[in-house]
Amino acid sequence: MPITQLNVQAIRNLSELSLTPSSSINIIYGANGSGKSSLLEAIHLLGLCRSFRTNKLNHLIQSGGERCTVFAQLDAMGSGISQPLGVERDLAGESRIRFAGKNIDLTTLAELLPIQVINSETFMILEGSPGVRRQFLDWGAFHSNPEFIRLWRGFRRVLKQRNSLLKYGKIDQRLRAVWDSEFIKYAEQLNTLREVYIEALKPEFDLILADLLEGVSIELGFSPGWDKKRGLDQVLEENFERDLRQGYTGAGPQRADLRLKVDGHIASERLSRGQKKVVVSALKLAQGVLFYKLNSRSCIYLIDDLPSELDRQHSRLFCNYLEKTASQCFITCVDKESLTGLWSESTETCFFNIQEGALSTQ
Ligand SMILES: Nc1ncnc2c1ncn2[C@@H]1O[C@H](COP(=O)(O)OP(=O)(O)OP(=O)(O)O)[C@@H](O)[C@H]1O
Ligand SMILES: [Mg+2]
Repeated sequence: MPITQLNVQAIRNLSELSLTPSSSINIIYGANGSGKSSLLEAIHLLGLCRSFRTNKLNHLIQSGGERCTVFAQLDAMGSGISQPLGVERDLAGESRIRFAGKNIDLTTLAELLPIQVINSETFMILEGSPGVRRQFLDWGAFHSNPEFIRLWRGFRRVLKQRNSLLKYGKIDQRLRAVWDSEFIKYAEQLNTLREVYIEALKPEFDLILADLLEGVSIELGFSPGWDKKRGLDQVLEENFERDLRQGYTGAGPQRADLRLKVDGHIASERLSRGQKKVVVSALKLAQGVLFYKLNSRSCIYLIDDLPSELDRQHSRLFCNYLEKTASQCFITCVDKESLTGLWSESTETCFFNIQEGALSTQ
């Protein structure tokens, strides 16, 4: 399901850029500030209608402009027929997403063009808050089970309602029983999908990590957000007075987390910077492999500054793995040489040089 043609308009310093990418490896190289990350950001906007660098999408729109647009031809569901996808965003905050001549919503877009990003922010899977790890986990659960989004939305709605009752303070016991039973129903189903996903991800992750990082083994554990030895009904009951004092629900899937350990120690405290990059990349690659197994199509990888933090040997191993996943990859680097000579001859590799927001034709 690769992008066969890409057009970017008015995204940061990319005024007007057209690219015919390879269906496998695309390397975008250029000096600092030339527009490499902006090009990846444009593809991210196309797939998710948001940026990986900012929550304020207006920063993406080129200074002085009113809107930005990304337009692509893609073989969306692996049908072999290219169809147009366009995402437009204006300064007023309005977004328009069109696929094959029809407006589509965000969920449909996310299903159409599954995107994986590996950049300096990806370290946050190890170093950041549980919310980052839940987002990672839920990307996979969303793409592995069509029920996930309904359960996730249902759970968010019930959690919001329960929390507003807790904030209000005076809770009618019958009303509380109704919301608690809804909470438990959604929480358990959501948790099951997350557990199933993580169990399927683990072996993929172990295999990839063994190839990429010899001698380091990582234990990947999942914590559901409450003490599973006690039922969630008992937990809610026992925590009720505390929840009431705090004005929010303290236990449940909204607190789920992943635990990554090396020899019993928290991985982020143990690993070197380069090892961390390999581990988070292995997690993202494992998601891609599993996505392929479950959906018979590949996701698109956006990898910002692949060589940073990695020595030549680890860059080579990483590149070999990207080739194996048979995904379309957009990879940036400053020096062309840093990603030259790392690919097998049979892989279709395209190099694009960006200079001051435009593709160089030399
Ligand atoms: N809204 C905007 N309008 C115009 N230019 C912008 C806007 N936002 C950022 N820029 C500029 O776009 C340029 C490209 O930034 P980008 O982050 O894509 O560079 P890069 O090639 O990834 O650089 P690096 O190698 O340092 O990561 C920068 O010069 C930046 O100042
Ligand atoms: Mg950059």
